[in-house]
Amino acid sequence: MKRFLPSSFSNLITLIGGIVSGVSVGVILFLVVLEATAVNPSPYMGIIAFVFLPAVLLAGMIMMIVGALREQRRMRLGKPHGLHLPKIDFNNPRHRRATVTLSIGSILLLGVVVFSSFKAYEATESDAFCGKTCHNVMEPEYTAYQYSPHARVGCVQCHIGSGASYFVKSKLSGSYQLYAVTFNKYPKPIPTPIENLRPAQETCEHCHWPKHFYSEKVLKNTYFLSDSQNTKWSLELLVKIGGGNVEAGPTSGIHWHMNIAHEVTYATLDSTRQSIPWVRVKDPSGIDRIYQSSDAKLTDEELKRARVRRMDCIDCHNRPTHIYRPPARSVNHVMDLGWIDPELPFAKSICVKALEYPYSTKEIALDSIKLHIEDYYKTNYPRIAANKNAAIAQMIDEVQKIYARNYFPFMKVSWKKFTDNIGHLYYPGCFRCHDGKHTTDNGKVLSRDCNVCHTILAQKFEKDRLRISLAGIDYKHPVDIGDAWKEMNCSDCHNSQ
Ligand code: HEC
Ligand code: HEC
Ligand code: HEC
Ligand code: HEC
Ligand code: HEC
Ligand code: HEC
Repeated sequence: MKRFLPSSFSNLITLIGGIVSGVSVGVILFLVVLEATAVNPSPYMGIIAFVFLPAVLLAGMIMMIVGALREQRRMRLGKPHGLHLPKIDFNNPRHRRATVTLSIGSILLLGVVVFSSFKAYEATESDAFCGKTCHNVMEPEYTAYQYSPHARVGCVQCHIGSGASYFVKSKLSGSYQLYAVTFNKYPKPIPTPIENLRPAQETCEHCHWPKHFYSEKVLKNTYFLSDSQNTKWSLELLVKIGGGNVEAGPTSGIHWHMNIAHEVTYATLDSTRQSIPWVRVKDPSGIDRIYQSSDAKLTDEELKRARVRRMDCIDCHNRPTHIYRPPARSVNHVMDLGWIDPELPFAKSICVKALEYPYSTKEIALDSIKLHIEDYYKTNYPRIAANKNAAIAQMIDEVQKIYARNYFPFMKVSWKKFTDNIGHLYYPGCFRCHDGKHTTDNGKVLSRDCNVCHTILAQKFEKDRLRISLAGIDYKHPVDIGDAWKEMNCSDCHNSQ
């Protein structure tokens, strides 16, 4: 009989290598089919299908070659060689029984392999896997996500989605991540996947389609100043979200940028998209306006090099789920709820300071927050420290909780590392374009009017009377800073707390 392979391949090591390779090819094919038919394929499946199993396949193939080389040497040296497999005689009842047992055993084993790879597949689909298993590293993102409006939306829904090119991209990055985590090569914090993020049309718009936008939303914010009485004041804003559906409400407003008929494009030299010197708006009537920043005008040559991008959801909602809150905002919120007693002198200021200190680990942070607050009241207000023991203990507890939700020294993550583009108080946000310094050649300014994006309905300082008007009132900055708030970006002061 003519042999299909050279005789040196006929030996036990090569045979075992061949079986190992064959089984891994089978399982890889099975996983590929499983993944192609799954509704939300998991990125980390790639680690099994495209990294782990191919490694097994390679090991099998190496075994085959090693076996063949060894066999060749034995042949040359005249040593006993060849595959000496037992001869099976089906007329012999013992042989028959052994064959049947062996076959059933193999089928069961194959079943177990297939079943466990299916289970592994399911496990990698889950958010706990993304957030926890090999991703200690992603603890910050996972924690923030659990406290966000998208806590029930799977990681894969925003990060992977379906479609061939992202399938391949996520496989490759999945494999890279395995390498990075294994060899401790990942950057801290994990950089924002700003370039590789799926386009918003394929993720956000599955659930929030542009025709279904809301018209307006009221925000009632309460603030406390950093003075000894924690002076309380409040602000009511009617945010003009606007929509894309003529029948549901006005199509102007903030979501106007997203209105299908309009096209806002911008150019930036900055990979984080924080500095936006050039903006173009096109509307269906053929109007085409270009706004340029008087602070950082691009030369023609720079404009050619710049990245040009059409604005979509992510340009404003870049932190829809991994939200790390600025300390002042979290503390205002908890004080407003009464969980931190506003009667404690300098409560706001002490809490913000205790949160912002650059601690090296979470354990040290939690201990230091306690010591810091206790010491402060014992030293400066011994009577209050004695009388309001319970309130101080609760304050410590709340501040520790805020810390645990928003600061991750292990990954160097905090609100300062991740810019949130919605709003304009703590980060440049809308004022990247609407800073009052972007103008067209014939002098039209991209508006920074306080009542364009929201109407300031009401404002009240503790002792003043309530100022209120449906048409919008003039804003009063809580501490006297002259006209600075009209000229500077709010974040110039508010990001440096
Ligand atoms: C609602 C959509 C959404 C969901 C759900 C979501 N992410 Fe994200 N994620 C984003 C966006 C958008 C960014 C980019 C943020 C930016 O550009 O500033 C991001 C960024 C990240 C980053 C990069 C670091 C950073 O904070 O910018 C990591 C890591 C990450 N996500 C992990 C996860 C994990 C793990 C889960 C599930 C537990 C998850 N994401 C769920 C939308 C989502
Ligand atoms: C799988 C569906 C799904 C996807 C994908 C999704 N969201 Fe959401 N989104 C939701 C749900 C559900 C809510 C919560 C609605 C509620 O609380 O009433 C929500 C809430 C929101 C809110 C309101 C938040 C608030 O403060 O109440 C915003 C803004 C938002 N999503 C933006 C986005 C953006 C941007 C993306 C794309 C990166 C996205 N969503 C992707 C389902 C989704
Ligand atoms: C120009 C910036 C901008 C763009 C672009 C943008 N949004 Fe918004 N969106 C806002 C602002 C501002 C709000 C109201 C502020 C808030 O969330 O509290 C908002 C509110 C929302 C809400 C929540 C409404 C509510 O009741 O809380 C959803 C959902 C939403 N946007 C989804 C989207 C989606 C999806 C896209 C992309 C198709 C998109 N937005 C594009 C700025 C933007
Ligand atoms: C990339 C630059 C850019 C950013 C960032 C940006 N805008 Fe705009 N915005 C524009 C341009 C351009 C116009 C159109 C001006 C015109 O009509 O010529 C506009 C117009 C508007 C309008 C008026 C729409 C109307 O009905 O006429 C509102 C409201 C608005 N923006 C709100 C916001 C808010 C809120 C944010 C932040 C969440 C924001 N914008 C961020 C570029 C930007
Ligand atoms: C380009 C649109 C735009 C303009 C112009 C604008 N705002 Fe805002 N403002 C926003 C958005 C969007 C938010 C965030 C709403 C949210 O938190 O969901 C906001 C939030 C605020 C808040 C609450 C901030 C917080 O997080 O507590 C204050 C205060 C405020 N604006 C004051 C002003 C003042 C004063 C001006 C005039 C100098 C102004 N805004 C101009 C879009 C704008
Ligand atoms: C020159 C610096 C400066 C500029 C610019 C500035 N602020 Fe302030 N702002 C302050 C100071 C100082 C305080 C008091 C902080 C405190 O007592 O904790 C403050 C307090 C606030 C608070 C209360 C904050 C909190 O954490 O409780 C709000 C809201 C606020 N400013 C809004 C704005 C807005 C909106 C703008 C831009 C239109 C702006 N500020 C521009 C310096 C500034």
